[in-house]
Amino acid sequence: MAQPYSTKINDYINNPKKSTINTPLPVCQWLCTLIERTNPRIICENMIVDVGVGTGNLSRYFASQIEFIVGIDIDAPKKIPKSIDLYVVSDFLKWERQNGELVCPDMTKLRPRNREDMFSYVNNSNEPLVLCNPPFNYEGKRKKELLSFTFLKKIFEIFGVNTPVVLFAPMGMLLNQRMVSKRWREMSEDIDGLSISDRISSIISLPIDIFENVQFHHQILLFNMKMPIAHYFLPEYVIKEVQDGR
Ligand SMILES: C[S@@+](CC[C@H](N)C(=O)[O-])C[C@H]1O[C@@H](n2cnc3c(N)ncnc32)[C@H](O)[C@@H]1O
Repeated sequence: MAQPYSTKINDYINNPKKSTINTPLPVCQWLCTLIERTNPRIICENMIVDVGVGTGNLSRYFASQIEFIVGIDIDAPKKIPKSIDLYVVSDFLKWERQNGELVCPDMTKLRPRNREDMFSYVNNSNEPLVLCNPPFNYEGKRKKELLSFTFLKKIFEIFGVNTPVVLFAPMGMLLNQRMVSKRWREMSEDIDGLSISDRISSIISLPIDIFENVQFHHQILLFNMKMPIAHYFLPEYVIKEVQDGR
């Protein structure tokens, strides 16, 4: 096995990597096709929320199918991606539910197109499809928290535990745990009849060098969807397209 979390390969401590490496477009396109094929109902009647939207790679291929795409990012964009109908600049980890209402501090809304009111949509207990490739780390700040799990919990808190989610996560989010791990407990606890781990519909394995200039053991976890196959490997042709694009 490649060395997970390898400080030797990546030298995180002396050379912290930028945590905003975009998802390669061929991976995004394949993901979109997979979800369209396996979960057409999610696509035909839904809204997408792209958490940590950045340049919009993850949601861009859904644009022709989905009525309304909301992007949330802590940083204002240089250019708002064409596919995004509402770009919200805000720290998503500070969002809360207070008495059922969404509370989003420090929020700036850029380019609200039609159906600007994502908040009433979500407050009416509609469940959007949430896409999220969170930052790998705190860019050298030595916090131990596993950001993918922090984002996942926040997504379920804000949009409901039944919302379908596509989450990029280090392999260690599921596997690198001990008997006393808090995360193990949190993943196994019952919430509305199912635990977070019960809600995993499928796992997509990725090569560790799929993101440019970094080697990291990532996988894509799909939650609350109907998937015919439990474990996918990123297809060869997609890997070839990523290689050809470098
Ligand atoms: C790994 S990049 C992913 C970009 C894009 N979604 C993609 O897949 O290509 C992570 C993104 O999350 C954003 N981000 C980091 N912390 C955030 C936070 N607390 N709230 C919202 N966005 C955040 C970063 O600015 C960055 O654009």
